[in-house]
Amino acid sequence: MCGIAGYVGPKPAVGIVFDQLKRLEYRGYDSAGIAVMEKDQIKVLKRAGKLKELGSLLEEHPSDAHLAIAHSRWATHGGPTDENAHPHYDAYEQIAIIHNGIIENYLELKEELLANGHKFRSQTDTEVAAHIIGEEYQRADSLEEAVKRGVKRLRGAYALVVVSKKEPGKIVAVRNASPLVIGLGKGENMLASDIPALLPYTREIIILEEDTIAVLEDDKVRLMDGDGRELPIKVQHVEWDVAAAERGGYEHFMLKEIHEQPEVIRQCMAGRIDEAEGIRFESIFSEHVWNEIDRVNIIACGTAYHAGLMGKHLFEKVLRLPTDVYYSSEFRYGDPVLSPKSLAIFVSQSGETADTLAALRLCKSRRIRTLGIVNVIGSSIARECDRTIFTQAGPEISVASTKAYTAQVLVLTLLALHIAQVQEAPGIRVEEWIEELLRLPEKAKAALDLESEVKEVAEECKNMPLCFFLGRGADAAVALEAALKLKEVAYVPTQESPAGEMKHGPLALVQPGVVSVFGATDPSTLDKVVSNMKEVQARGGAVIAITTQDDTTIQKAADRTLKVPSTPFEFLNAVLSIVPLQLFAYHVARLNNCEIDQPRNLAKSVTVE
Ligand code: F6R
Repeated sequence: MCGIAGYVGPKPAVGIVFDQLKRLEYRGYDSAGIAVMEKDQIKVLKRAGKLKELGSLLEEHPSDAHLAIAHSRWATHGGPTDENAHPHYDAYEQIAIIHNGIIENYLELKEELLANGHKFRSQTDTEVAAHIIGEEYQRADSLEEAVKRGVKRLRGAYALVVVSKKEPGKIVAVRNASPLVIGLGKGENMLASDIPALLPYTREIIILEEDTIAVLEDDKVRLMDGDGRELPIKVQHVEWDVAAAERGGYEHFMLKEIHEQPEVIRQCMAGRIDEAEGIRFESIFSEHVWNEIDRVNIIACGTAYHAGLMGKHLFEKVLRLPTDVYYSSEFRYGDPVLSPKSLAIFVSQSGETADTLAALRLCKSRRIRTLGIVNVIGSSIARECDRTIFTQAGPEISVASTKAYTAQVLVLTLLALHIAQVQEAPGIRVEEWIEELLRLPEKAKAALDLESEVKEVAEECKNMPLCFFLGRGADAAVALEAALKLKEVAYVPTQESPAGEMKHGPLALVQPGVVSVFGATDPSTLDKVVSNMKEVQARGGAVIAITTQDDTTIQKAADRTLKVPSTPFEFLNAVLSIVPLQLFAYHVARLNNCEIDQPRNLAKSVTVE
């Protein structure tokens, strides 16, 4: 995944698609490549690293071709190398493709193709898709027909763009859950994964709908559905300036990334849930390792530490596996007692956080098994851990982490279920968990629909001098993350603790004007939470509660109630509850005119100790 660009028309295409890629640089990437339609061949040029590397390569191979496609890659399958960069050829080097998203069934398909004698140059899922479409092309009478048949064999989320040397004036694209936009020009047409790439060239765009195939030639664009039926074209005129377009029309990256969470949940599970096999991970420890592990230590900083706390809750409650969570900075200087049979899990969005990396090296020096849960492929933590699971959340640009947190919690959930399966742990309803996890993207979408109510609450609270975040069980872990969000983007002082701890001290801070946000999504502790709410209200404090849709208890006690969809698992209720809480932090910050995407004093990646 990351940036897609394409052009067909009378102008030199290479300069245009390169410029389009540059306009997508803000999204982050680790390699880039281009496929150029020369007279009788498709020339593919690609390089790991920044666009200037590709730029030098293009200078060495000048071209005045009129059709090109280009891609900047943010690694998901296979590290950021020249070979893994897109475009990829099919087995016959007849077509070249670029791809955003994840092909979930690529391993099965790869095995099938290998058995039929295919050879692969990269470790990517994209190259498998190229071979599949290339195979179909041998039997199809057009590139669009090959794409139509090929994608029927693919499972997952993808935006695919394909060119063929047999049809040199044509670009075929297909979209399933990964965005693609087409730009219309006069005697020229183009496409990109995001609108900012197109703005200097055209403001007339088509947003490709789900499961739609587009065929671009210089003088026309055709759309068709998965069965080849022609579809009507809806052209939109875009008024956004470049900065607004980079944020997908959202006012800030933080808000965009909060809204991406249903899709992130889907991407994070992609390829990891299988009807027959249950939860599986590529290259993870084998069965005997999971059976040997006697303790888990989760080590991380900030938001990633909070995700670790959610992991502890699940590992202990569901797996009965003793789990501790450490701040990386404390762990490394704390001379920890480590069982030789323990597993150390390092959670990090960037994969570069200095303290987490140092803690990892300490564990390795003590010969402890290490597992990374990381978003950035090719990062130091990802490379140095014995095994790494990628969160597949896509690049996160806002300094305040939102979608990466949700993906980290989800990976920890999938991991707990995977271990439960391997250990054949009794009493864990893995199938039921899976059913519910598959519903989670829709439920996260419903949680986002609370935004207008959240805005009203934010308006009422925007001048609060202090905000408490409280909860019990998993809600207490979510409270810490919700508080961090509010303080880092809205600069509101917060006090966060398990709800039961209030009367042991923090209650002294409650007075009129102080707001207390209670996570109350666990049906087994609602009565206790209601008592805690009463303690706050008796001292003049206001109470906002996040509960579930089937609640009848909390709504009677709280001053304001926000309801997320219910699930049969209290843990997943808590997972959903972070969505309105992130929105709360965002809207309080917005009402107070804070610099939301770049909060004062903070950096996205903390590479100093
Ligand atoms: C808060 C936030 C930070 C990071 C922390 C760890 O919104 O983003 O607290 O979570 O600096 O960073 P990573 O996950 O990159 O190790």
